[in-house]
Amino acid sequence: MAGKIPREFIDDLLARTDIVEIVDSRVRLKKAGKNYSACCPFHDEKTPSFTVSQDKQFYHCFGCGEHGNAISFLMDYDRLEFVEAIEELAKMHGLEVPREQGSGRFTSNKEKQQNESDFQLMEKVTRFFQHQLKHHAQGSKAVEYLKQRGLSGEIVKQWEIGYAPPDWDAVLKTFGTDNALRKQLLDLKLVNQNDNGKQYDFFRDRIMFPIRDKRGRVCGFGGRIMEGNGPKYLNSPETRIFHKGYELFGYYQTRQQRNLQRIMVVEGYMDVVALSQYGIQYATAALGTATTQDHMTMLMRGTQEIVCCYDGDRAGRDAAWRAVENALPALKDGVQLKFLFLPDGEDPDTMVRQIGQEAFEEMVARATPLSTFFFDALLKQHSVGTPEGKIALKSAAQPLIDQVAGEQQKLMLSEELSKHVGEYDRFKLDRDIRAANASPGSAAPRQQKNDGGNINKTRLSPISVMIRLLLEHPSLAAECSDSVQPEFLNGSGIAGLNVLQDVFSFCASHPQAKTAQVVENFREHPYSKSLGRLLVQEHFIDEADAQRVFRDCFARLLDWHFDSRIDQLLSKSRIQALSSDEKQELNMLMRERQSS
Ligand code: UTP
Ligand code: MN
Repeated sequence: MAGKIPREFIDDLLARTDIVEIVDSRVRLKKAGKNYSACCPFHDEKTPSFTVSQDKQFYHCFGCGEHGNAISFLMDYDRLEFVEAIEELAKMHGLEVPREQGSGRFTSNKEKQQNESDFQLMEKVTRFFQHQLKHHAQGSKAVEYLKQRGLSGEIVKQWEIGYAPPDWDAVLKTFGTDNALRKQLLDLKLVNQNDNGKQYDFFRDRIMFPIRDKRGRVCGFGGRIMEGNGPKYLNSPETRIFHKGYELFGYYQTRQQRNLQRIMVVEGYMDVVALSQYGIQYATAALGTATTQDHMTMLMRGTQEIVCCYDGDRAGRDAAWRAVENALPALKDGVQLKFLFLPDGEDPDTMVRQIGQEAFEEMVARATPLSTFFFDALLKQHSVGTPEGKIALKSAAQPLIDQVAGEQQKLMLSEELSKHVGEYDRFKLDRDIRAANASPGSAAPRQQKNDGGNINKTRLSPISVMIRLLLEHPSLAAECSDSVQPEFLNGSGIAGLNVLQDVFSFCASHPQAKTAQVVENFREHPYSKSLGRLLVQEHFIDEADAQRVFRDCFARLLDWHFDSRIDQLLSKSRIQALSSDEKQELNMLMRERQSS
């Protein structure tokens, strides 16, 4: 388990960091008034709609809606994980990342050294296998095999393809020179041990594909047999540095490209390598497992299009459906998921050799969108010709759709489902009623449209305005605490109240915080998405008016709450006598109302 990084450290790190510096070293920024701007690095555009605010330590693109603080920028631009982004920032400031008591990622310095040494050993073994391909007596057989598979010498070098000699102890003898090293080889599963305690190389007489993790470190191998018995591919078993459900072959290499437009998920090592030989540099493969939800989450970070490529047969379609199930919970807005089915018996390797890059990429461009594949697959099972069929389709589809992470994606699939079951008009009506009822306070602004750079200027409810202002000027909470006390609204049932209360109390206790820190505090929180969306809303409130507007909004909410409570008590009093507490409350409320 990764040990938690103390929240105060993250706050401190953000306080020391200047987001303008971070962004500017990667994307040239131009000063534009109080802020800085550039063409957005997260989507294609000709005119700059990406702004960075030094005050708020926050960036935001009016074109695609991407936004965040220095940590998010490093995650999205440098494609780092959260912890890696923190480590990167800490390194820039010459700080060590502290871990909360208990289980740190590495509980000790020793473990950290172990981890570094593991990766060094894997790197050395990679070089060893490469060397064997050229110099081992049997190496020429392997070279011959690779040639016959159509691989150029250049591509073999680029993918660091090697050869594990047939000997029982080639790796063992070369690297296992003392007990500690032999233990390490066993731990990394480069060496096996039988029941009699005899040790021998795990990979023998195989073509070796090193697998690099997200950060480019060799974490495991895949080995292909050339002839004889045994599994076609042998993969490194799970080790302390290798987790199949997380790693993808070729992912690191693919990620090295700037302006990566899409990623294609294929089934085999050979597919990735062959495609790259034909100039298709955006393929990656799961390691003999289905694509997991972790894979999907990783793929959706920073890619706008994911094409999953399968064999056209039954097994391929089943695999694609499993990928859909794993992808839906990770599916975020702005990502297009597509499926490409190859003719029966072909894989990308054989296909691209047959038809070439251009024709292959034309197929990729015409890949089936998720929604089409999703409903085609379901409609094959459920005939919507009968009411029963419609119900069956709905019960199969709805739970899957409900899991979708992106609101727009979810809406799109729900709309599509309504069309199939003939409830489209009812769906639209429901949606409109919900939108109309969202006042006085849904935290998520209604129907955000992204029509080519136009920002949304829908009116915000008072509660949304308050949250929005707090995000921008966190000090408002402390400044206005004399009159603004969100707990007075308890029991009002106003949508978004809990969000306001949580954000308010965080800001009240952190009056020095900037937008970046507030948002950071809610990163893992269920509200984080609503907060992000809210930040993108324009509100046209001058900084000078912020306090007044903030107080006014609260006063309006309070009036509304008191009025509805008065109504409630009055109507109750018409049917039954009020308790003395209720009478007292009613008197107090009426007095309060008259004085305001
Ligand atoms: P394929 O059998 O489709 O392999 O398995 P391939 O990539 O087309 O290989 P070639 O062209 O015959 O050399 C697809 C993937 O499934 C995993 C491997 O990751 C392989 O690349 N696999 C396959 C295994 O892990 N073990 C096996 O025995 C077979
Ligand atoms: Mn193949």
